[in-house]
Amino acid sequence: MRDSRETSLIKAFVCGYPIKHSRSPIIHGHWLQEFGIDGDYRAVEVAPEEFTGFIARLKSGEAGFAGGNVTIPHKEKAFALADQPDELASELGAANTLYREEGRLKATNTDGYGFLANLDDRAEGWDARRERAVILGAGGASRAVIQAVRDRGFSEIHVLNRTVERAQELADRFGPKVLAAPIAALAERIAGVDLFVNTTSLGMDDDSSIDIDFSAMAPTGLVTDIVYVPLMTPFLIKAQKQGMRIADGLGMLLHQAVPGFEKWFGRRPVVTADLRAKIVADLEKH
Ligand code: ATR
Repeated sequence: MRDSRETSLIKAFVCGYPIKHSRSPIIHGHWLQEFGIDGDYRAVEVAPEEFTGFIARLKSGEAGFAGGNVTIPHKEKAFALADQPDELASELGAANTLYREEGRLKATNTDGYGFLANLDDRAEGWDARRERAVILGAGGASRAVIQAVRDRGFSEIHVLNRTVERAQELADRFGPKVLAAPIAALAERIAGVDLFVNTTSLGMDDDSSIDIDFSAMAPTGLVTDIVYVPLMTPFLIKAQKQGMRIADGLGMLLHQAVPGFEKWFGRRPVVTADLRAKIVADLEKH
């Protein structure tokens, strides 16, 4: 048995609860192999009551990890326990990427980067017009999307949610370009928009619940969904039928992994068609 403390083996993790469906080990394993790096990236199931201890062992170096990814339900606590969260994570109040550097545990959030990089990659020119966006949902996942769309320079970002108070909280958090509305305002708010993003599980059980006329958007508008199981969500199917340009959400998962890999393993990986095909094949298995 090799002892990681005595070799050059670099170790990183993804932790969550539950964690068994995470595709991150396949993504990072693909890149480790591609670069021929002596590295190890593994899924670690950490129950909520064990998370503080897990982070303490990460900080002390006892766990032997260079860093890792954090997913549901630990993103807020990861931000709170890190020594040095960056500006992105601080505004979101949530971190998905941790790394040890200069004796400190640093934290960032790469979900927004992943969201934008996916669209840049799969829907070139999607941001040519940055006037208005509609984001459906005001949960944990929608925050990084709102931040990213705002930082890309959209003038108006309408956040529509069943519970309008949650949308209003996000409007307050992310500034005057972000406006809250109930889902009932969708038909009116969607007119002429350049971007529509679904961040909810709405429509997954019963697609009759999505009564949206995507063709009311700007003709050059893009419809995307951050849900990637299934790859073609009811929103994307409907938008495509109505002649709109679409981009699925799988690339967000692939691209959000890039900055973490670079921090821990020292090389910047590329999201290729091969990697995407590997993950699509895995999604089809389960
Ligand atoms: P996540 O962190 O994945 O975003 P979440 O915080 O539970 O998960 O948020 C789920 C989002 O989907 C919320 O915007 C939720 O609306 P509420 O804030 O009103 O709960 C939305 N959502 C889930 N099921 C829904 C449904 N059947 N109809 C409308 N919105 C729904």
